[in-house]
Amino acid sequence: MLSKRSLVGIRLSFQTLAVLLFMLIGVSAYAADPTVGSGEEAIAAGKTVFNANCKQCHKLDAKSVGPALRGATDRQPLDKVKSFIKNSQAVIGSGDAYFTALFKEYSNTVMPAHEFLSDDDLNNLLSYIEHGDKVDPAAAAATAGGEAGAAAGGGIPSEYLSIILGVLVVVLLLILVVLGLIISVLTKYINKQDLPEDDKEFVSQKTDLGKVFKSDAFIIVVTALVIALVAKTAIDGLYSVGVQQGYAPTQPIAYSHKLHAGDLEIACQYCHTGVEIGRSANIPSPNICMNCHTHVQNVQGKEGISPEIAKIYAAVENNQPIEWVRVHNLPDLAYFNHSQHVAVGGIECQTCHGPIQEMEVVGQHSALTMGWCIDCHRQTEIATEGNAYYDKLVQLHSDSKDALKVKDIGGLECAKCHY
Ligand code: HEC
Ligand code: HEC
Ligand code: HEC
Ligand code: HEC
Ligand code: HEC
Ligand code: HEC
Repeated sequence: MLSKRSLVGIRLSFQTLAVLLFMLIGVSAYAADPTVGSGEEAIAAGKTVFNANCKQCHKLDAKSVGPALRGATDRQPLDKVKSFIKNSQAVIGSGDAYFTALFKEYSNTVMPAHEFLSDDDLNNLLSYIEHGDKVDPAAAAATAGGEAGAAAGGGIPSEYLSIILGVLVVVLLLILVVLGLIISVLTKYINKQDLPEDDKEFVSQKTDLGKVFKSDAFIIVVTALVIALVAKTAIDGLYSVGVQQGYAPTQPIAYSHKLHAGDLEIACQYCHTGVEIGRSANIPSPNICMNCHTHVQNVQGKEGISPEIAKIYAAVENNQPIEWVRVHNLPDLAYFNHSQHVAVGGIECQTCHGPIQEMEVVGQHSALTMGWCIDCHRQTEIATEGNAYYDKLVQLHSDSKDALKVKDIGGLECAKCHY
């Protein structure tokens, strides 16, 4: 009877271990953050990019204008750090708690955007930041008053964590295999002896995976994991409430900017008649479409009236507007004027709206947050040339070594953008 009891015990531990292994693999898959490469070439290439763009404000192991950079990818997820380097104000504008706090800590110093960096550049840059010019921690401690040493040595490096996880998985697997072997040997041994009927039945019963999946422990663990994931998604979602970046609704007529503004090269102003003269760009009325579509009834080579173009005819006949779905929409509290930016500022539509001439369906390209407006106003020089309105200002400003930016003409004043 001793053997029967030990068989029960072994089977139970087998099932518990199987559940554990399953969880561990799940956790390590979720925790496996992409890490930064440490190849010599990547580090050298990264150093070049760093010296050209970041050196004036950052050191690797000490504070400068901005924080010490080494360890940045341990402090925050890799993708988020990349987005921050590309456009720090967009990340702060999206309400990200860590970077908003950091921004405050550095007295709202704006780190310039680096949209021009390719993903390769970013990967090399981060390789350099994490692995380049490593100083001996002891020497660094001596020179930098311990600050650098402490920063470099904080926490267990993520490589070690993955190694520990991997070793755990292997050990668990080995134990499972050994337990399985013991179970089969024991079963064979017991089967050879004379046993009462019910014991025989018990011994020959197979380990049932279905049972494991139905066990309370398994259900509780899985439920907890699911709840944690849902909560994380919900919290991330809340941070982007009101930010409609990427919104591209289906329109009532399959009108294509790629065809009209791209291939046919019709000027944006032909349809968006307001951009140079007023606040609003305007969406064209069906009459503007009819300038061409009284003649063009279909794409070249097709017969009859296209069903999409028939919708324009129906709108004109019934004297009803086409109900285009609005894509860009600032809240009522904000004031934005197209002519100020396009006619006076000389900014291309694509700077704010992206490559519209390549879009079959228009989508919102920029975040349209307050941080996005402000960031551009801090960085953009005013096109003063040939604009007599600015002559006085330019003269007044000529003592300063910085160029005249939008922020210098009041582009950061609340009342300019808010009613
Ligand atoms: C004009 C100064 C300036 C330049 C140039 C600059 N930064 Fe920054 N950086 C800052 C400041 C200031 C912060 C602190 C956050 C803030 O105020 O936006 C920061 C924060 C960071 C952070 C977050 C650090 C942390 O602790 O998590 C990273 C990463 C970073 N910068 C990378 C770069 C890289 C890479 C470049 C070059 C491509 C660069 N920065 C260029 C000023 C600058
Ligand atoms: C032949 C007329 C026509 C031309 C030319 C044209 N558009 Fe449009 N545009 C429209 C129509 C119709 C809509 C509304 C339907 C839609 O969103 O696709 C629209 C919508 C848009 C929107 C989104 C408006 C919203 O709801 O927020 C933007 C931005 C835009 N156009 C920019 C441009 C730019 C930039 C160009 C030049 C590269 C251009 N358009 C050329 C007709 C035109
Ligand atoms: C300046 C002339 C011009 C204007 C203005 C114009 N279109 Fe077009 N459109 C064309 C031409 C030309 C074609 C056919 C292109 C081809 O043959 O490949 C076309 C094709 C189309 C098609 C594709 C039809 C199909 O069956 O695939 C649609 C839909 C369309 N236009 C809608 C509109 C709408 C809506 C407007 C007004 C907002 C508009 N167009 C304004 C010239 C114009
Ligand atoms: C400085 C950034 C910027 C530039 C440059 C810009 N837009 Fe816009 N555009 C916006 C913003 C912001 C909105 C949303 C306005 C709102 O909701 O009040 C918008 C809205 C629109 C709309 C929707 C209708 C409307 O007026 O609200 C159209 C169409 C449009 N833009 C077309 C254009 C075209 C065409 C150009 C180039 C000639 C252009 N835009 C240049 C920022 C810009
Ligand atoms: C791509 C850069 C860019 C973006 C994005 C941008 N602006 Fe501007 N803005 C400018 C420039 C350049 C001027 C100066 C034009 C001139 O010479 O008067 C300006 C001027 C202004 C002015 C007039 C300021 C003054 O003192 O006369 C207001 C108001 C304004 N912008 C509001 C906004 C709002 C609201 C947004 C966001 C929805 C926004 N801008 C986004 C570049 C930008
Ligand atoms: C260059 C233009 C611009 C300037 C300057 C500006 N804002 Fe804004 N602000 C905006 C825009 C655009 C929005 C709407 C953005 C959105 O919905 O995410 C906004 C939104 C807000 C909101 C509402 C935030 C929310 O989540 O609904 C507040 C509050 C606000 N601004 C306060 C201020 C104050 C205070 C100042 C002066 C220190 C200021 N703004 C200066 C453009 C500006």
